[in-house]
Amino acid sequence: MKFLEDMLHLDNLRNIVVNVIGPPGSGKSAITYNYVAQVLNKRQPVVFVVLDQHPEQIRLKMSELTDIDSSTLDDLLIIVDGYSHTVGLKSNTNLAFNASNLSDFSLTLSAALEQEVECVLIDPLSTLVIHNNELSLLKTIQIITAKLRGGASHSFITYIEGIHTQSFYNTVRYLGDINLILKREEAENGEVIRALHVHSSRGAPLDERWRPFTIDSQGRIDLEIKK
Ligand SMILES: Nc1ncnc2c1ncn2[C@@H]1O[C@H](COP(=O)(O)OP(=O)(O)OP(=O)(O)O)[C@@H](O)[C@H]1O
Ligand SMILES: [Mg+2]
Repeated sequence: MKFLEDMLHLDNLRNIVVNVIGPPGSGKSAITYNYVAQVLNKRQPVVFVVLDQHPEQIRLKMSELTDIDSSTLDDLLIIVDGYSHTVGLKSNTNLAFNASNLSDFSLTLSAALEQEVECVLIDPLSTLVIHNNELSLLKTIQIITAKLRGGASHSFITYIEGIHTQSFYNTVRYLGDINLILKREEAENGEVIRALHVHSSRGAPLDERWRPFTIDSQGRIDLEIKK
């Protein structure tokens, strides 16, 4: 799973925000979860903003993808719960917000970033458009992007392709430091082909080649970097 660091030159870049943009099922979650698992395996803290599933499911997936014991995982994996309140459940963390209140989102994220963390993942930020209009969402994205640069080494925000306006995507791409684009295609024999490329990048050499990757039955990514 070292390919993301190599492709994005992450070892040389600090305080950057990576946008991951792709259609449903293209592998946005799989790729970013694998990256987060790798950071956790190095015993480094991660803030995970959960928006489209129960936080317990994220804990479970992370325990499957990492080789650390559950109490270490609880220490390192800081979950910001944007799911429970939104669907009318009680959250079991103080770091919870309602998805229809963007300033609550921003403040809760700041609270989570009071300690410096290695990595932040917000997956998928697109969900917030169900509860808010695009313009207020863009304003919030600008604010949180600045916060993420100050509070974490590498942050990832995922966006679902095909549900926002073109001007939303253009603004989002401009706000991020690196834009990683994913695609998913079905071959004539029904086989699903997934690929990714770096669309634009501040601070690293640009390499726009499409790189095919696969996701195995455990959700692990395989991508070969051919230089
Ligand atoms: N943990 C996992 N175990 C098994 N298969 C997985 C796992 N994670 C992902 N996959 C496979 O990879 C596919 C795409 O994954 P993923 O959920 O990452 O896409 P996505 O871009 O995040 O989609 P969405 O926009 O719907 O959230 C899934 O449909 C599934 O087949
Ligand atoms: Mg997903």
